Order: sequence, then C-alpha cells, then structure tokens
Amino acid sequence: MTASPTIRPARLDERSALEALIARSARALSVGDYDEAQLDRAIGTVFGVDTELVEDGTYLVAEIGGVLAGCGGWSRRKTLFGADGRRDREPGFLDPAVDAAKIRAFFVAPEWARRGVGTAILDACEAAARAAGFKALELMATLPGERMYRALGFKGSDPIEYDMGEGRMIRFVPMRKDLE
Ligand SMILES: CC(C)(COP(=O)(O)OP(=O)(O)OC[C@H]1O[C@@H](n2cnc3c(N)ncnc32)[C@H](O)[C@@H]1OP(=O)(O)O)[C@@H](O)C(=O)NCCC(=O)NCCS
Repeated sequence: MTASPTIRPARLDERSALEALIARSARALSVGDYDEAQLDRAIGTVFGVDTELVEDGTYLVAEIGGVLAGCGGWSRRKTLFGADGRRDREPGFLDPAVDAAKIRAFFVAPEWARRGVGTAILDACEAAARAAGFKALELMATLPGERMYRALGFKGSDPIEYDMGEGRMIRFVPMRKDLE
C-alpha cells in the first residue's frame, strides 16, 4: 500500500537522526549493488547530510506517524552530490535560466521501501525547483537510485566510476530530467 507521508524541511537539530537513517537505508537497500567495503567508505563521504542544504531549507524529510521515513532534497548550489565530508565540493550557485537544479541525497527507511516515499519527496523537490524557475533537474544516481529515477522520467547517461579515496571506487549514473 502506498504511504502518505508528511513532507517538511529537515531541521539542523535532527542531523544525527538523518545520518543514522541514511546509513541504515544505504546498507539495507544497496544489497547486490555495492559491497560492504564500498558502503563503509561511502557513508559519511558521499552518502550523508549536506548541512548547506538543511540551512537553505531545501533538504526535505518524509514523516509517517511522526517518525522519519525518508529524506532527500534539491539544490540551487553547484555541488552535485556528497555529504559534508566529501573532499571535492564545488562552491557557487546555479542560474535557473541555464542550469539544471540538483536533486540530492535520497534515502528511504528500509521498512518503508517501495511505498512511494521516495516519489513523494521527489515530487515536492520538483515542484520547489520549478517554482524557483529551473527548467531541468540533474543528479548523480546510485545504482538503487537509478531504478527509481528512471521510473520517474529521468534519463541516464553512461555510468561513471567515482573515486572515494582510500582505494575505493563506486559506480554512479549521471541522470537528468527536463521539466515541461
Ligand atoms: C532509491 C530509493 C530512494 C527509492 O525509494 P522508494 O521510496 O523505495 O521509491 P518509490 O517507492 O517511490 O518507488 C517509485 C518507483 O521507482 C521504481 N523503484 C524503486 N525502487 C526500486 C527497486 N528496488 N527495484 C526496481 N524498481 C524500483 C519502481 O518503479 C517504483 O514504483 P513501484 O514500486 O510502483 O514499482 C531507496 O531505494 C533508497 O533509499 N535506496 C538506498 C539509498 C540510495 O541509493 N538512494 C539513492 C541516492 S541517488
């Protein structure tokens, strides 16, 4: 049955709860896509909260019965992916007239997977990016994420192997969706 979560902006005081949710989601929902050593390196560097988005009010959470069921956001900033701990962040803001808004860090609690929580957060992000004047969305998808984004109208280009440091690589898929 599809869930009907409440979508609201994430708060700074729930960052540690979100980090815990992200780690739990990544470990449970990436089975068969990434191995444990990749996840150990990814959590906290490429998978995790980007505090700038929380401060911007563009990182959203889905709550069901007052409990966190998922999180994800959009951004007018240039950084395409990654948590606070990522080394190669890109400073600066996007221009809605020419640039695509970024879709960032979607993670759903395993017990709520495949119940429409990711879709509900993405719908809210898409509406907000559209209202801010953006004409397209882009993101760097994980392999589990690619399946959802493709179902929701995003198109992928060739996968990339991202170097997370310490000898760990991870496969991601750049994706994009034009907004009508
Ligand atoms: C990717 C993720 C956010 C999807 O969240 P979700 O709430 O389960 O997604 P939804 O229920 O809204 O799925 C919408 C549609 O996407 C597709 N989809 C989602 N997960 C899928 C899967 N595991 N396999 C195949 N299709 C899938 C389906 O078409 C689904 O519709 P359906 O359930 O009616 O068939 C979730 O799996 C997750 O948190 N994964 C681990 C973290 C991660 O990699 N996040 C992505 C970062 S880019």
